[in-house]
Amino acid sequence: MIIKNILVLLVNLIFFSSCSDLFLTEKMINCENYNPQYTFEKDIKPIFNKYCISCHRSDNAIAGLDLSNYSEFNISKYFIPGDTTQGLILKWIKDVEDPMPPSWFGVMDRDTINMINQWILECAIEN
Ligand code: HEC
Repeated sequence: MIIKNILVLLVNLIFFSSCSDLFLTEKMINCENYNPQYTFEKDIKPIFNKYCISCHRSDNAIAGLDLSNYSEFNISKYFIPGDTTQGLILKWIKDVEDPMPPSWFGVMDRDTINMINQWILECAIEN
């Protein structure tokens, strides 16, 4: 009986901890002392280089957006560190009908979109 109860507890733990990943997608956290899982240089910049900077770089900043340089897009209009409910970058990449990048240009898979989402949730540090 005790073993059965422990098993039920374990199954619940696994179930709820995997669910919490889903809850992370649209969330706000406190950015003080936050330890990010992704880095800008290693994880996010290569994504922007592949999917965005053809149209959003310093000498071709369509819609005024330059994603080739962190300091150029570090503006609350584009993203708010620790808050995935706001900001134009997440709004556009998650837009189903008219996404960024435009679908004729390329399609980012779910994992890639989640990395950007997670980086912003984890305070979007330039690291
Ligand atoms: C093939 C060109 C192209 C690529 C690649 C592209 N964009 Fe865009 N982007 C545009 C155009 C054109 C607009 C203007 C809005 C519109 O009418 O679609 C735009 C607008 C935006 C805006 C709105 C800016 C504002 O101030 O309103 C954001 C945010 C954005 N893009 C993010 C991205 C991100 C992030 C990527 C890569 C994941 C990306 N874009 C890739 C062409 C592109």
